[in-house]
Amino acid sequence: MGSEVLSPSQVACNLTASHISSGRVEAMRTTAGYGLVQGPASGITISDIDGKSFIDCRSAGGVFNLGHRHPEVAHVLATAARDTDMGDWMLLSAIRAQTAEKLARAAPGNLNHVQFAVTGGEAIEAACKLARGATGRHNIVTMDKAYHGFVGFGLAAAPASFTAHYGPLTPGIVPVPYGDVDAVSRAVDGNTAAVLLETAQGSAGALLPPPGYLQALRSLCDELGVLLIFDEVQAGLGRTGKLFSFENWGVVPDMAVVGKALGGGYYPIAACLYNDRVLAFVDKVPLAHPSTFSGSEIGCLVAAKALELLSAPALLDNVVAMGERLNRGYQSLQREFPDFVTGSRQLGLFTGIETPSADTGTALRHAAVRHGLLAFTAPFRPGFLVIWPPLIITASEVDELLRRLGRAVKEAAANS
Ligand SMILES: Cc1ncc(COP(=O)(O)O)c(C=O)c1O
Repeated sequence: MGSEVLSPSQVACNLTASHISSGRVEAMRTTAGYGLVQGPASGITISDIDGKSFIDCRSAGGVFNLGHRHPEVAHVLATAARDTDMGDWMLLSAIRAQTAEKLARAAPGNLNHVQFAVTGGEAIEAACKLARGATGRHNIVTMDKAYHGFVGFGLAAAPASFTAHYGPLTPGIVPVPYGDVDAVSRAVDGNTAAVLLETAQGSAGALLPPPGYLQALRSLCDELGVLLIFDEVQAGLGRTGKLFSFENWGVVPDMAVVGKALGGGYYPIAACLYNDRVLAFVDKVPLAHPSTFSGSEIGCLVAAKALELLSAPALLDNVVAMGERLNRGYQSLQREFPDFVTGSRQLGLFTGIETPSADTGTALRHAAVRHGLLAFTAPFRPGFLVIWPPLIITASEVDELLRRLGRAVKEAAANS
């Protein structure tokens, strides 16, 4: 009897089960329909380790806004590794200061100062700490179905289903429904340091802010001396067709957190930008947020390149045009399958389609994977299929994505 030959993905799943977690492998089977193990990726395409190729409709939440293995970012990374290293976090760094300047110049309004971090969660942590320090107040008003990472303040702001095992959580988080100005107004008091939100909520299913909402929050915060913090980790850095998503609504926060795409798909780096009011506190407490790997010189060089590519007007125009092209496709799917595709949302390439339930969402997600689309449902809205391709996607690639989506919808609708 010959021994069974395992595929590369089976080998990797077995190894993952043995040395990381079998639950993790099972969770991927549930998510993708099988134990998907990543293989080579390039541009908008990602393959599994057995060679099946997909259009990447996730961009890992924005990490791959520039597509996979962007050659210019790769070049900067290689050159940076030749010329420098992490840098010494205790010393000043010209490279770090230059990247901070580039971020400040790219940001609207007076977001002129930068605290670097390694992850989005860490940058949120820094933002909330700075808000407490700058205001001398404790509470942070957050939104239901927010996702700000899995540490500290961000974790405490996540839905209960995500936090159940980890209490006691960081105190002072005051959640309110997203989109409801009156609820914020009731929640804010003399002990409120900040209102923290994603301008458009990604993990809740690409929810866009109701008209006037962000402007009203800005006025409310100004009136009460509360800091407004926008989490741009998903919606920022080009995803919505503007470099910073809040440019769509003409509202500038006191602090903005960017991550994911800032690393150009190559390097873990995030940042919290802040204005003069927060600076006054940081000047008094210069080591407000020391962090060994934050503001690494290699990371800052990569981030500067990523920022340059993500701010290019031609790229942002492409995001707007490709988003509209996708949306036209969603609308024709909705006409063809009105009981299955019940809606769509889109701002730039912050997009996706709504199905009636978690079950239909799961059916569509699995069908999408079978038809060569790596697209997952929104964690806090499981009927909603998130479709966030890299921002470099072309018109013919959008059309191919829509063809595959059409096949996936047809199959999932027929079986539901
Ligand atoms: C909106 C948002 N904020 C913060 C984070 C946390 O970022 P990280 O996973 O890099 O800690 C994420 C991660 O997915 C996110 O989507």
